Amino acid sequence: MDIIQKVINTHNLTQAEIIELLNLKEPSALYAAADETRKKYLGGGVHLRGLIEFSNICKNNCLYCGLRCGNNKIKRYRMDEETIISTARKAKTYGYKTIVLQSGEDPFYDTDKLCRIIKGIKQMDLALTLSIGEKSYEEYRAYRQAGADRYLLRIETTDKALYKRLDPDMSFENRLRCLQDLKTLGYEVGSGIMAGLPGQSVESIAQDILFLKNLPVDMAGIGPFIANPDTPLADYKQNNFEIALKTMAIIRLLMPLINIPATTAMEALDKDGRIKALKSGANVVMPNITEGEARKLYILYPGKICTGEAPAVCRACIEGKIKAVGRSIAQDKGVSRAYIRRTEAQTAAERSETKS
Ligand code: 5AD
Ligand code: SF4
Ligand code: FES
Repeated sequence: MDIIQKVINTHNLTQAEIIELLNLKEPSALYAAADETRKKYLGGGVHLRGLIEFSNICKNNCLYCGLRCGNNKIKRYRMDEETIISTARKAKTYGYKTIVLQSGEDPFYDTDKLCRIIKGIKQMDLALTLSIGEKSYEEYRAYRQAGADRYLLRIETTDKALYKRLDPDMSFENRLRCLQDLKTLGYEVGSGIMAGLPGQSVESIAQDILFLKNLPVDMAGIGPFIANPDTPLADYKQNNFEIALKTMAIIRLLMPLINIPATTAMEALDKDGRIKALKSGANVVMPNITEGEARKLYILYPGKICTGEAPAVCRACIEGKIKAVGRSIAQDKGVSRAYIRRTEAQTAAERSETKS
C-alpha cells in the first residue's frame, strides 16, 4: 500500500493518511513495516525497565482510573523511602539498568522525600524515570537536580472537550505546561495516550499521534483503554487492543528513533499482547518489580497481569519470551536515540551561537 511505503521512506504522514491507516481492516502490512523500521533504526535489543508502583493514593479523580480518589473499593498503600530504595537495589541484581518510579498524585511524597529517594537510587548507577504526575516547574527542577533522568506523563488525549469530560478537575493547559517544563529542564520526555476511550474518534487519535510527533517526545507509551468496574466508565466495555496496536505501529513509523514500550495493558487484553507489540514497533518492556501485597493493589484497570508472580519470576519469564522471538535483552541504559539526537543538535546550535 502506498501510504505505508510513503511513511517508510519519509517518516511523515498527513492526518488523513494516519486516519486511513487507523481504519485498516487488515493491518498486518502496517505491523510488518513498523517492525522493519524498529529493526533498521534500533536493532534487536529490548530494554527492560523495572517498575516500582510505590503508592496507589491519588488526589485526582480521572473517570477511567481505578486509583481515582472517588474509588473507595480499593485498599490504599504507600511504600516508605527505605522500601523503595531497597526494591531498586534488588532490581539491579536482576540486571535492570533503569528504574521507573510510578504512583498516583500523592502529596505525601513532598520534594524533600522524593529527592532523597531519587539520590538513593542514583547512587547505584541506574537510570531513573519518574511517573508521578503534574508538578510545578520548581518541583520538576528539584527532581532533575537530584538526578532524575526521564519523566513519563501521558497527555491521555489531545481532544480538549474529551479531556475535560474524563478529568473534570484537571486542566489540559496545565498538562501541556508540564510537558514543556520537563523538556526545558532537559529530561528525556515520554508521553502517550489511551486508545479506545469512550467518545474518542479515529480523527482524534490521528491528532494525538501528530501531537506526539510535533512535541517531539523521546518515548511514547500507548495503552488500550480498559473499562474498570469500580469507575464511572464501567459500562464502556470493548476490546481496544487492535486500535492501540495500530496507533503504536504508526508512531514507530513516524518516529523511528524513540523508545516505545510494549505496554502491560496490551497484555491484559491479549495473552501475547506484549510480544505482538514487540513485533509491531516496540523496543521496551517494563516489568513490575513491586513486591508483596502492593503488587495486587495498583489497579488502574481489571485483568492486570503478573499480580500473582514474584518480580524474579517475571524477570525470567519476560527474558524467555523476548529470546523466543529472536530478540535480546539490551545491556546498556537504553537512553532514547531521539533524545540523543535532539540534545546533540541543541548543543551544536548553542555552540555556533556563541561563536558568531
Ligand atoms: N485503562 C487503561 N489505562 C489506564 N490508565 C489509567 N486508567 C486506565 C484504564 N482504565 C493509564 C493512563 C495513565 C497510566 C498510568 O495508566 O494512561 O497515564
Ligand atoms: Fe490519579 Fe493518574 Fe489515575 Fe488520574 S490516571 S486518577 S492522575 S493515578
Ligand atoms: Fe510476569 Fe510473565 S512477565 S509472569
